[in-house]
Amino acid sequence: MNDAVFAQLRRLRIVPVVEVQDAERAVDLARALSGAGLPAAEITLRTPAALDAIAAIADALPDFLVGAGTLLGPEQVHAAQEAGARFGVSPGFTPALSSAAASAGLPFIPGAVTASEILAASGAGHRHLKFFPAESSGGADAVSSYAGPFAGAGIAFMPTGGIRPETFSRYLSLPNVFAVGGTWIAPRDAITEGRFDEIRHSARAASALARSL
Ligand code: 3PG
Repeated sequence: MNDAVFAQLRRLRIVPVVEVQDAERAVDLARALSGAGLPAAEITLRTPAALDAIAAIADALPDFLVGAGTLLGPEQVHAAQEAGARFGVSPGFTPALSSAAASAGLPFIPGAVTASEILAASGAGHRHLKFFPAESSGGADAVSSYAGPFAGAGIAFMPTGGIRPETFSRYLSLPNVFAVGGTWIAPRDAITEGRFDEIRHSARAASALARSL
């Protein structure tokens, strides 16, 4: 299961990171993303509506790759999996998060930005890591520097944090980046105000550029 999820993220290359304020918007959001060629999203557990949003998408659109982000503790891992999340993302790595994801059978992308954090996460068996906050942690240059020591170990990153339409292609050109994520595709206000045409437009543009690289 892990392999299929990571393969899909690698194929899509762009992961919209979204904060949903109202779960009733979730299915329309997912439909807009799918229609634009990006049938995946990391729904951040930063709002009370997040778990309901994940459940609504999982129920209505079983082919949509819905993930849960901002997993900070084991209880959130279990809640995300119960809601129907098909993968989990954390800004950091802890052994407790890692074990919870393993016991829930949830493909998990922990965060790591330093060499020691990368070693800790890879020592727990993780090969797909979030690099967050990407732009303020050295950006694409920093990620590129990790190709030397860590690519042999099969470590690949999903940078997020401060990435914009004009900067994501630099990350995607790196051999040790499997996808990039960010909120620029579906900003919180655009979701809340139901501006799905705008979201479709950003998603289409990002996905077309990613495919052309
Ligand atoms: C995340 O959780 O990955 C970030 O909040 C995304 O950061 P961005 O808003 O700068 O894209």
